Formats: sequence, C-alpha cells, structure tokens
Amino acid sequence: MGHPSPEEPQKTKCQVRSVALPIFCTLLGIVITAFITWHVARAHYNNSEDTDVSNQSPLTQPEDTVPASDLRLPTSVSPTSYDLAIKTYLPGYGYVADGKNVTFEGQVSIKLNITKSVKKITLNSKDLNYTSELLKKSSLIVNGEPISFELDDKQEIYEKIFFNLAKSVEPTSDAILKVFFTAPLRTDMSGLYQTTYTNIIHPRGTVAVSNGIEDKTEEIQTEFISSSFKPTPKMSSYLLAIFISEFEYNEATTKSGVRFRVWSRPEEKSSTKYAVEAGVKCLEYYEEYYKIPFPLPKQDMVALPDFSAGAMENWGLITYRESALLYDPRIYPGSQKRRVAVVIAHELAHQWFGNLVTLKWWNDLWLNEGFATLVEYIGTDKISDGNFRMREWFTVDALWTALAADSAASTHPMTFKIDKAMEVLDSFDSVTYDKGGSVLAMIRETIGEENFNTGINHYLTRHQYGNAEADDLIAALADKLPDNVIGPKGDKLNISEFMDPWTKQLGYPLLKATRHNNTHVIVEQNRFKLLQSAKEEEKYSNPVWGFKWDVPVWYQVAGSPTIEMKWMKRDEQLIIKTDRPIILNADSKGFYRSGYTDQMWKEIIHMMKENHEQFSPQTRSRLIDDSFSEARAGLLNYSIPLQLVTYLKNEKDYLPWTATIAKIRELIEMYGTDPEKDVVHKFILNLAASAPAKRDVEFISNNYLDDKQFFEVNAAQQLIMNDCGMGDTVCASKMIKMFNDEVLGKCDSSRILSECSQIPAPFRAAAYCYSVKNGDSEVFEKVFHWYKTERNQVEKGNLMSALGCSRDIITLKKLMLDAMKPEGSSFRLQDCASLFGKIASNDATSDSMLNFLIDRWDDMMIRLADDHSGFHRVLSTIVSTLKTRGGLDQLRKFRKKNPKAAELGIDKMEESAEVTITWRETNLKFVTKFVEDLNKDL
Ligand SMILES: *[C@@H]1O[C@H](CO)[C@@H](O)[C@H](O)[C@H]1NC(C)=O
Ligand SMILES: *[C@@H]1O[C@H](CO)[C@@H](O)[C@H](O)[C@H]1NC(C)=O
Ligand SMILES: *[C@@H]1O[C@H](CO)[C@@H](O)[C@H](O)[C@H]1NC(C)=O
Ligand SMILES: *[C@@H]1O[C@H](CO)[C@@H](O)[C@H](O)[C@H]1NC(C)=O
Ligand SMILES: *[C@@H]1O[C@H](CO)[C@@H](O)[C@H](O)[C@H]1NC(C)=O
Ligand SMILES: *[C@@H]1O[C@H](CO)[C@@H](O)[C@H](O)[C@H]1NC(C)=O
Ligand SMILES: [Zn+2]
Repeated sequence: MGHPSPEEPQKTKCQVRSVALPIFCTLLGIVITAFITWHVARAHYNNSEDTDVSNQSPLTQPEDTVPASDLRLPTSVSPTSYDLAIKTYLPGYGYVADGKNVTFEGQVSIKLNITKSVKKITLNSKDLNYTSELLKKSSLIVNGEPISFELDDKQEIYEKIFFNLAKSVEPTSDAILKVFFTAPLRTDMSGLYQTTYTNIIHPRGTVAVSNGIEDKTEEIQTEFISSSFKPTPKMSSYLLAIFISEFEYNEATTKSGVRFRVWSRPEEKSSTKYAVEAGVKCLEYYEEYYKIPFPLPKQDMVALPDFSAGAMENWGLITYRESALLYDPRIYPGSQKRRVAVVIAHELAHQWFGNLVTLKWWNDLWLNEGFATLVEYIGTDKISDGNFRMREWFTVDALWTALAADSAASTHPMTFKIDKAMEVLDSFDSVTYDKGGSVLAMIRETIGEENFNTGINHYLTRHQYGNAEADDLIAALADKLPDNVIGPKGDKLNISEFMDPWTKQLGYPLLKATRHNNTHVIVEQNRFKLLQSAKEEEKYSNPVWGFKWDVPVWYQVAGSPTIEMKWMKRDEQLIIKTDRPIILNADSKGFYRSGYTDQMWKEIIHMMKENHEQFSPQTRSRLIDDSFSEARAGLLNYSIPLQLVTYLKNEKDYLPWTATIAKIRELIEMYGTDPEKDVVHKFILNLAASAPAKRDVEFISNNYLDDKQFFEVNAAQQLIMNDCGMGDTVCASKMIKMFNDEVLGKCDSSRILSECSQIPAPFRAAAYCYSVKNGDSEVFEKVFHWYKTERNQVEKGNLMSALGCSRDIITLKKLMLDAMKPEGSSFRLQDCASLFGKIASNDATSDSMLNFLIDRWDDMMIRLADDHSGFHRVLSTIVSTLKTRGGLDQLRKFRKKNPKAAELGIDKMEESAEVTITWRETNLKFVTKFVEDLNKDL
C-alpha cells in the first residue's frame, strides 16, 4: 500500500485503512451486477485476521479498544472458497429503485470445511443488513441436507455475526453456506463506497473490474449488466476489490503475456501512459528479480478520485489516489513523477510479497511493508533507467525517516504483539515501512545482494499461496546462506541471532568513536534517544538484549577510497587499527548513527572542507543527519553540525543539500514565530548563495522533463524553493511575476487552471503560494475559485497549499472550518490533513492551532471520525505547533478529558512537543548567537 498524502511526496505508505476490505465502485457508472468467485487462503482464515465475507473492516469504532483476539474467528469452521455476487443501485441512471437507491445487495456462497462439531457459525460482518426476508432466502447445506439457522440477536459484535444452528453439525468438508445481505453504499472511503467526480462528457456503458480476469458479461435486465470473473488463485480476502465505472484505460502487454491496463476518468486517459509504461517495465523486472512468474493473467491499476491512502495492492486490481498514478508532464514536477514511479513499484512489489505470500498476523506487518519499501527503490530505478538514483535517495528518504521515527521513546519494535485492534491501524507507520526497509537493506549489505535475493526467492516459493511470518523469511535466508558469510563471533553468521535484536527490540545504537592512542580507535555503542527523559512503554522497556545490538560497522579512513566492515559484538567494544581520521557508517549502509569526540569531529569537518568529494554523497548526508540529530538530543555541541555545514559553500550535489535544508528547517520550526529565526534564515541563504550548484529558473524550466538531468534539476529547484522559503524577497517576486504574467494575464475564472496556467510545473506551487501570501483578498478568492473548479489533483493540491499561504488569520480559520463541514465542504476528506498541515506551518496561525483543536473538537470528531489516518495526521500537525509548557499542559488536560484524543495517540505526539520545548529552553539562545557569529564569516 502507498503513502497517505500528496503533501508528503517523499514517502509511500500503504493504505492505512487496509484492515478494511477495500471494495470500490464509482458513481455515475451504470448499475451492474458482478459475480465473483475467488478462493481464500485457508490458513489466513484460521488466523482470522480479517476474514470478511464482504466489505467490512474488522476494526473501527467503537470496537477499537477491544483485544485483537476477540476479533479473530474460531478455527472450527474454515472457508475453502467463495462465490460472491454484488448488485449495486447507483443514482443517476433513470431506473426505479424502490427505495434501493444508493445501496447494494450481495450474496455469497461459502464452501466450508468444518473440523469440529459446531452449533454456531461465526462470520465477520460490518454494517451489513440481514433482513428477515433475506435470512429466509439464506441456507446452509451440509452433506446435501439443509440445516436451518437463525441470526443471533446480538447481531453484530466486534464486527462478527453468529448463526445459531438448529442442531450440531459434525466435521465435514461438504458444507455450503449461502447468505444474502444488503447495505447502503458508503461515502467515507471505506467498504463499498462511491466516489464522485464532475465533467464526464456524456454517460456511456460502464465496466466492472475485479481481481480475476473477466469471464463473461451479459444483460440480465434492461437496466442491469452482469459481469462474471474467473476464479482467482487462493488469496487473502483483504485483497478483494471490485470497481464499477465509466472509466477508460490504456493497455499494454508484458513480455510474458500479462495484460496490463491503467484506468482513469476519461478526460485523464492520456495521463495514464506513464503508468502503463512504468508498470510494464517494473512487472517484467520483478519477474526476473523474484524469479517467479506473475501469477495472474492480467494486472489492472485504477486512479480513484477519492482515496484515503496513497494506494492499495489488491491482487490484480491495484487502486490509487489519482495523484499517485496519473502523470501529466505539464503539471507534475520531477519529484511528483518520481512519486508515481515509487508508488507503482511499491504496489507491484506486493503482488508477490504480501499477496502471493501473505502475513500470518499483523505483528509481522513490517515484513510486508518493509520489503515493499526496500524493493520499491529497485523497481523505481528500473522504471527511470537509473536516472532517479534511488539507491542514493534511500539514504535521505527511508533510512532518514526511520532513524528519526525510531529515536522517540514512544516507538515500538518492528515485530510486536498486537494486543488491541487499534494497534493494527497504528502499526502502519514509519517503523513498519522505513525501519523495516532499512533493516532489510542492512541485512542485504551484510550477507551480499545475491545471497539475499536467493533467500527471497526461496521464501516466496516455499510459502506461495499461503501464509508466513518473519521467522520464515529468516529461515529461508539462513537456508541459502553460504558458509563463508561470517558473523560477529568469527564463525558462520547466524541470521536470526543477528536479526532478533533489530526486529524485536525498539530503537537503534549510536556508535561513538574515541581515539584510544596514535594507532587505535575504540568504538562503543549506546541506544540513541532524542529525549533522554522520555519513557518507553513498559512492555518494551526491558528487552532481553538490553538495548544492545550486533553491529556490522562499515568505515572509511582518510585517504582511502574503500569501505571496510568489522563486526561489533553486542557486549564488547570494537577496536579499529588506524592512525588516520575515520568515518563510521560510510555510505550509510547501517541502521545506526555515529558520533565522535569533538576533536575527531573537527578532523572530519576539516576533511570535508578540504575535499568533500573523497566521501560519497550518502556519507556526506549521513554526517549531516547524525551531527544535527545528536546535537538535538543534547549529545553534541551545536557548534559542530553548524560548522560542518559551512562546507556546503562548495557543495553542488542534491543529497547533501536535501539533508542540510531539512535539518535547518527542523531548527527553524523549533523557533516557531520567534523573530530570532531570521538569523538562521540568513545563514542558509548565504550558504546557498555561494554554492556552485545550478540554480536558475530557466535551466529548470527547460530541463525538468529530462530524466537524465533529474538530480541536477531537483537540486536547483530545491535551492530556489529554499530561497523563497527562507524569506528571500527577490525569489518571491520572481514567483509572483510568473503568476501575474502566466495566470492573471491569461486565465479568467471560467478556465480550469491546470489547462490555462502557463507556469512550468516545478514552479506552480510556489507561484500560487507567494501570490496568495502577498496578494489581497481578490487574489485569494480567485485562487479559491480555481481550486474548487480544478480537476487535476496535483494542480488542486498546488492551489490548496496556496490557500494555506494566506497571511490573514480569519481567512485561514474559515478554511479550517470549511474543511470540517460534515457536508458540502470545499475539501475532499482525503485532503483535510494536508490542508491542516499547511495552515499549521503558517506563522499567522501556528500559535492558535491548539485553541482551534479545543474549540472545534466536536466538529473534528464528526468530520474525521472515519478517516483514522487523516485524523491522526491532523492531530500531529496541531501538536507540532506547541512551543511552550503552558500549551503542552493545556493539551494534556484536554487529552485527559477526551478519551478519543488519547486513543488517537495524542499522548505519543506529546513527546515531540516536549523535544521542541526542551530545545528552546537549552539551545535557542546559544544557536542564535553561534549562527550570528558564523554569518559574519560567510
Ligand atoms: C438517488 O440518490 C441520489 C443521491 O442521494 C439522489 O440525488 C437521487 O435523486 C436519488 N434518486 C432516486 C430515484 O431516488
Ligand atoms: C479440512 O480441514 C482438515 C483439517 O484441517 C484438512 O485435513 C482437510 O484437508 C480440509 N479439507 C479441505 C477440503 O480443505
Ligand atoms: C436495515 O434495513 C432496515 C429495513 O430496511 C432499515 O430500517 C435499517 O435502517 C437497515 N439497517 C442498516 C444498518 O442499514
Ligand atoms: C542461531 O541462534 C539461535 C538463537 O540464538 C539458536 O536458537 C539457533 O540454534 C542458532 N542456529 C544455528 C544454526 O546455530
Ligand atoms: C594502542 O592501543 C592498542 C589497543 O589497546 C594497543 O594494542 C597498542 O599497543 C597501543 N599502542 C601504543 C603505541 O600504545
Ligand atoms: C559549545 O562550543 C562552543 C564553541 O566551541 C563553546 O563556546 C561552548 O562553550 C560549548 N558549549 C558547551 C555547552 O560546551
Ligand atoms: Zn505497502
């Protein structure tokens, strides 16, 4: 699954709602009936994580605090196959619906294998209606004989329903349960929901698409078409998808004959070409990479106008947010094109890893998501013919995010016991995705890529069409590991012994190097924690490994281009013989940070100033990230990272600049609205001004479509955006001029802005933002109008962000209230979190977000209740604005009075506010003064 928001273009996270069974249909489609047969992995059922017979999420309010074990199904009855039929009644098609408008009817025949004598059959079911007429039609046939049953009066509890049988049934595999049900079509992006869009030129016939390839289509009544699909291979029920629409597709076929289609609204049809090309390339490559043919005859991918997450990997029918699948070169900057490639590569990776082999239970979710995160980088490199340089990008993307997330005390181990239903939702986080990917990358580096890939193939082959857990992967890697791969003890590496401390305890080490004498350096490890006083959850606070790890230590000494590796044992120091300056974790291969004595840091800073290119961009970026993070944690004097980055006067590479800009932004965010931050603005502006990187608007506008120049163009763009963001007025004027010339001068309110605006893609967002920021209410109203009429989601995102750039606090509050309207809001539910993020980072409102939260909590609960991940993001955005103890106390009081806020994890978010507040108390004055002095010499 992919990442939640288009506002976070750097990541791909999956469908955070994926515990819900995603079934989709599109409004304005002709009503059709879809008959689907598919089989379900039986073992999956035995573990009963989400054994739905229809569109249900096993975990939502109010059951989200129930123990997960109560959500699982008994193992006495298990399904061997399903035959599902759904009939949808959509509005707008002129038939008489008899009160069935905007509902659907379903029927499912489940072949059951009964393994113990039972008097009750339990099914997962959520918000489905079993009327007495429907129950009369339902049946259970055991060994050819009908058994009568009734629905337990308890109806639905923990998303389960119970059928009480008239008599006990003995073990048999000859049993068929047929159940009829009905329910409204939803509008909250879960279950079977409708998504709407405007401007379809004229209605045409619609099509139904599902996991299996089409079988036959026939008209059954004048208004209804029935489409049936061939049975799928055995698969997990959470991967079911049905999609009914008037969409159109572009198509291609892979070398091995897989039919590949990408669907979109008809007017976006030409924007699906990139996805077809990317998808085919990637699928062909994965067949080689996994050494297992793609198991289905076809692959469909669909761009949906409303979608909660970034994407969802339903087998053979992957669903996406439009901005994560469509690509229009006029509107998408390079980073957004890369995101499309990344999300496609991620979802296709799941077709094997996740779909062909499914997890046994959510505690090993990292295996699915971490693996897809790792492989998405390889797949994206293929898609871009290496131009996106994804292996390098990994350092400032997945690895970076993981190290940040896992330095909080409120983090969790990669593998952890799911005790509560809510923890399933919460486990779709950076630890699961990015740490999962980073730890797997470290294993790959340690045992060698070929051994790693051989082990993966072995794992997939051994468990295909079945379930597995993390230990199965480790066993498969171990089976294929040659004897010459040496572990910390000097004999053959024991992978599970190496892996367990990384996957089963939270956090990671900081390796600290000290010069022992002229010829030797000593390295020691301690867990790295951002806020020393913060406490872990009790259940994680005493791991058997005592927060120590066996660490593969990669290092590079001054004057040598090679990177060497030595094992550091969990319970011992490591001694390295060298009389030269040394850099640990060169190339950023390992999942740890490195520190040095101040003297050794000074040697490193000296080397970087002399000749930074003797170290790879990944090494340079790691030094920047590590030094700033250690300073933030109070483990290093801030003078070190600040002096280190002065070398960037000579830096032209994308990665170190990305790293530095991100770190400086982190500092500036902690200043909040304090005017001293201007000193830091000036520092980074001066540094960037003398950097040798290309940075002109012309160069970017002329070359942004050339993937071969991707890194140079993006470095340049990033520097320009940084200038604007740090308050450089020349930069802002350039952007405003573009808007005046290419938008106001050319487009009136009757135009769709994406079609009319002549601003080159890389500058659209900034041009709109600075124009709103510096413009009057007339400009704002124009932009708001263009936002509302816009149909391209990337452009819509540009316009929405621009609205959040206004300096007028009342205008900004109106936007937030508009977003919280339960009905008739100008903002789609999926976009609310991004809007809040933008407004919270605006100095005009950042100090009043907490009050908004407290005053408007009831409205928020209504609008966001069903979008758990969106709600979570809105809250963490608001909490991130807190800069004072008074504010934090107020938040804590609020949380204590509102259990729902606690359930959404506000208490964990408080840790990051605490980090900021502590930083302000201890570092703000010193950093300001130190940077002021540095500015004199720049
Ligand atoms: C069906 O529902 C839609 C949306 O609620 C409504 O606009 C339409 O008028 C309804 N049609 C009929 C025939 O009831
Ligand atoms: C039914 O379950 C039993 C016990 O798990 C198993 O041995 C048998 O193969 C299953 N039968 C079918 C048809 O799946
Ligand atoms: C189930 O159907 C009945 C009768 O049509 C209706 O009154 C009730 O609201 C429905 N319940 C749900 C949960 O849809
Ligand atoms: C690897 O280590 C684990 C845990 O320490 C141990 O149980 C297992 O026997 C070891 N495997 C081998 C092949 O030595
Ligand atoms: C430096 O320390 C190492 C490791 O303790 C030791 O083996 C070596 O003899 C020492 N060298 C000197 C010159 O003291
Ligand atoms: C940090 O380093 C600066 C400059 O070297 C020094 O003046 C200052 O005292 C140091 N701060 C601490 C807390 O050691
Ligand atoms: Zn995923």
